[in-house]
Amino acid sequence: MAVPMDGIRAIHNAFRKDLAAMDAAAYTATRMGSSPDMVLKRYKFFNEILVWHASGEEEQVFPAVEKVAPLVAEAYERDHRGLDSTYAALDKAVMSKDKLDIARAIAIFNFHLQFHLNKEEAHLYRVFNERIPLPEQGMIIGKMAQKIPQQRFPEVVAWLYPLIGNDDRENMTRIWQQALPKPVFAGAANLIHSAIGDDWNELTRRIPEIK
Ligand SMILES: [Fe+2]
Repeated sequence: MAVPMDGIRAIHNAFRKDLAAMDAAAYTATRMGSSPDMVLKRYKFFNEILVWHASGEEEQVFPAVEKVAPLVAEAYERDHRGLDSTYAALDKAVMSKDKLDIARAIAIFNFHLQFHLNKEEAHLYRVFNERIPLPEQGMIIGKMAQKIPQQRFPEVVAWLYPLIGNDDRENMTRIWQQALPKPVFAGAANLIHSAIGDDWNELTRRIPEIK
């Protein structure tokens, strides 16, 4: 059974993979003199999703954790402000069009993000998972997901699914299947299908009823 925390991990894994790929692309562009296109095309959208995710955590997850484990969440909120400033530094570097500045800014952003997500999973979300009853966890994560403006949902699916592996895809799909009204879920399933192409066969092998 997929638990709400599995959905968080799937999104975290997508963040990890996307930013690491942008970091590698920026490094190669600086070393080899190629274009840092991948970074330039993706970093703004990446940060939009990151901000929806982080503000959802701050509004929903952190206050819930504060009740069961006081003084834990504040450090994570400070990490989020750190992410804001590393993003601002990257944006400034992109505006300057200097490849070395871009590569340096993205390396810092990437390091801070990976470290932050690892810490959240090892500490904050373990507290969340162990001390908050499962139905309440589901409600919290459901409200968090509402931070994504509805009309942007297709873009988020098209970003998320290609970045994550089969286990994360299965968990995320099962969570939506439980949380969304049937017709809305049917629409989501169509979006997932177009996002992953032939990998759809593996997903329907795991969750036959979504066909
Ligand atoms: Fe976070």
